Amino acid sequence: MPAESTSPRRDTIRFMLDGELHEIRDVDPTRTVLQYLREDLRRTGPKEGCAEGDCGACTVALAELNPDGDDLEVRAVNACIQFLPTLDGKELITVESLSVDGLHPVQRAMVDEHASQCGFCTPGFVMSLFALYKTNAAPTRIEIDDALAGNLCRCTGYRPIIEAARSMYAEEGGDWLRQSCTKQQPPADRVQRLRALADDAMLVLSSSGRKFFAPTSVEELCQVLAENADATLLAGGTDVGLWVTKRHAELDCVIYVGNVAELSRLTVTDDHVEIGATVTLTDAMPALIEHYPALEELLLRYASPPIRNAATLGGNVANGSPIGDSMAPLMVLDATLLLRSRSGVREVALDAFYHDYMVNDLKEGEFLEAIRIPRLSQQDELRTYKISKRFDQDISALCAAFRLRVEDDTVVDARVAFGGMAATVKRAKNCEAALVGQPWTLATLELAMQALDVDFEPISDMRATADYRLRVAKNLLKRLYIERAGKLPQSVYAYGRQA
Ligand SMILES: Cc1cc2nc3c(=O)[nH]c(=O)nc-3n(C[C@H](O)[C@H](O)[C@H](O)COP(=O)(O)OP(=O)(O)OC[C@H]3O[C@@H](n4cnc5c(N)ncnc54)[C@H](O)[C@@H]3O)c2cc1C
Ligand code: FES
Ligand code: FES
Repeated sequence: MPAESTSPRRDTIRFMLDGELHEIRDVDPTRTVLQYLREDLRRTGPKEGCAEGDCGACTVALAELNPDGDDLEVRAVNACIQFLPTLDGKELITVESLSVDGLHPVQRAMVDEHASQCGFCTPGFVMSLFALYKTNAAPTRIEIDDALAGNLCRCTGYRPIIEAARSMYAEEGGDWLRQSCTKQQPPADRVQRLRALADDAMLVLSSSGRKFFAPTSVEELCQVLAENADATLLAGGTDVGLWVTKRHAELDCVIYVGNVAELSRLTVTDDHVEIGATVTLTDAMPALIEHYPALEELLLRYASPPIRNAATLGGNVANGSPIGDSMAPLMVLDATLLLRSRSGVREVALDAFYHDYMVNDLKEGEFLEAIRIPRLSQQDELRTYKISKRFDQDISALCAAFRLRVEDDTVVDARVAFGGMAATVKRAKNCEAALVGQPWTLATLELAMQALDVDFEPISDMRATADYRLRVAKNLLKRLYIERAGKLPQSVYAYGRQA
């Protein structure tokens, strides 16, 4: 038996709401923030529509200390899938928080633009717009669309809501909540209150037969995981939260990795970009887009800002869904995973990580520490394509990634990977073999397309039929050929979305 961890512990969740400290003990650690707000506090502004992060009716904002600890960062999240203990050390802002002194500028703009009818979706839209107001001084149409990608409205129509997003800056002023990011000063009182909550103690809860641990260092995480081999690791909770709200899973022991300082690092060297397991997609996106510009559209179409503000790249990879969006591009980039346990760290190629449907190479007591992605050389081209029924906030029927090196019209290197075509995201090695060493011609492409019949036997499900998947996979290869010939723009954004 390993020795019990002796690091400092705390048994109370502490967070701020409307200037008041909330301290909670003896709570089911898988109780959601939305359940707490609506059922315990009777704070019913945030609504429950889907309970799975899709509709945005439950959107709230979280304010956290910035890395320097001298200002706050505000982000929207979906309260319906966030577990209550993950609020520890943060300030929670709900739609009720905004209207203490009359309507907030965002709410005023929604009223003035007639942007609400039944009103069920409205608190969620207000909170997504509030997060935009606090982070973007002059959003473009694409940025407004993106900010609202996780909010559904079924009766007003989006035009007046978009108008509200444009006009909400007109009336700003007053306290920090009412100041947009152009005028706001760091709110000393709020910063001070969150600083007072920051400590190195591990939050440990035990209630309703369930345990929850939030270690603060890699060493503690190794120890707690060794002591609780059956625990569920929790990062952003955008997969795990749904196991509870939709599948009604009973999670007896949860280890939250979000407080482990070493896992939140993002480093860029001459050789690679390394993304710690708890870096959210929102935080990873700037570096990923800078070093792999072909990922921009895929990342913008990855869920919505409230999901990306919580979700991690590490959670996507560790979850290993065959329709996860990050793995095909990471595979063609030859990414590796740093897996840590008490015995040390080992590095495994992502390509070798998945054994079968939702079965991966993680051993008992091991967790994902970071994803290491080799830098793209100037001779290599990267392309990615996401095929889904809806442009924004939709799960892929198919996700494709290609990395090519073509010299003197001959393919000298090729990596091809697909999500949605097999039980795991997988490289298409027969297709790659049909390309390498061959002239870059339509005839070669047609042989590579045929090779996909050998690489994959996709299934039919509610997202697409097997036949559709195979046909689209082949057509994406052809599209790549046509794009490289300069006959098609690379980004769907080029097809008529307004800037
Ligand atoms: C509305 C909605 C839209 C979505 N859209 C997309 C989309 O467009 N594309 C897409 O690919 N996915 C999408 N997802 C799925 C989900 O957001 C992603 O898979 C996300 O990246 C998971 O990250 P997380 O941090 O939330 O993981 P969590 O839910 O916290 O964990 C996911 C899995 O990873 C494990 N895990 C987490 N951290 C570690 C670690 N450090 N070591 C070992 N195991 C770990 C957990 O135990 C769990 O098995 C969507 C989800 C929702 C709810
Ligand atoms: S209730 Fe639909 S996103 Fe939370
Ligand atoms: S106003 Fe009714 S759903 Fe949006």
